[in-house]
Amino acid sequence: MKEVTYEGHTFVPYISRESIDARIQELGKEIVRDYAEKAPLFICVLNGAFPFASDLFRASEGIDAQITFIRLKSYAGMGSTGTIKEVIGLQEDVSGRNIIVVEDIVDTGHTIAHLLRGLKEKGAADIKVATLLFKPEALEEPDINPDYVGFRIPKKFIIGFGLDLNERARDLNDIYVLKTQCD
Ligand code: IMP
Ligand code: MG
Repeated sequence: MKEVTYEGHTFVPYISRESIDARIQELGKEIVRDYAEKAPLFICVLNGAFPFASDLFRASEGIDAQITFIRLKSYAGMGSTGTIKEVIGLQEDVSGRNIIVVEDIVDTGHTIAHLLRGLKEKGAADIKVATLLFKPEALEEPDINPDYVGFRIPKKFIIGFGLDLNERARDLNDIYVLKTQCD
């Protein structure tokens, strides 16, 4: 793992692919234990969550789970815009379903709060949140408390493993942090 640069910003290695893999396997085991006989519907929040959702879904083998996708957008550059755009809407009927929302990162929590309100209105039976990363210090939604968390991290800007800077860097296998914020 070495430094990478996007748009003039240098990023340094932060969480290795090996650590991510190991943690996702643990989360998968927890989900299998919690959802035996419950046939949950995973809702992957695109774009950022797709690598995590892909690995977590397969790490949760054996519970008759299904997966679907929604696309939301709230970030521009390195900050939240405060408004959430639904770029691709949800097709599935969620009424009576046990939902696991899969996010790449919970930052201010506005995105997930918006999504949870919508799912409740549509009659979901139960909704849990799985997120690869969680920045508790950035949280602005008091009711949000993710159920399955890969890594709790400080309020720093990161990229890789699905997370982007203006749609770039999602392909990085490891997670990197902005060098000016690395200590
Ligand atoms: P929230 O609504 O503020 O919780 O933001 C959630 C979305 O913002 C995530 O799904 C990401 O797409 C994006 N985001 C938040 N923090 C970061 C970061 O450190 N790097 C890249 N994207 C981020
Ligand atoms: Mg996202």
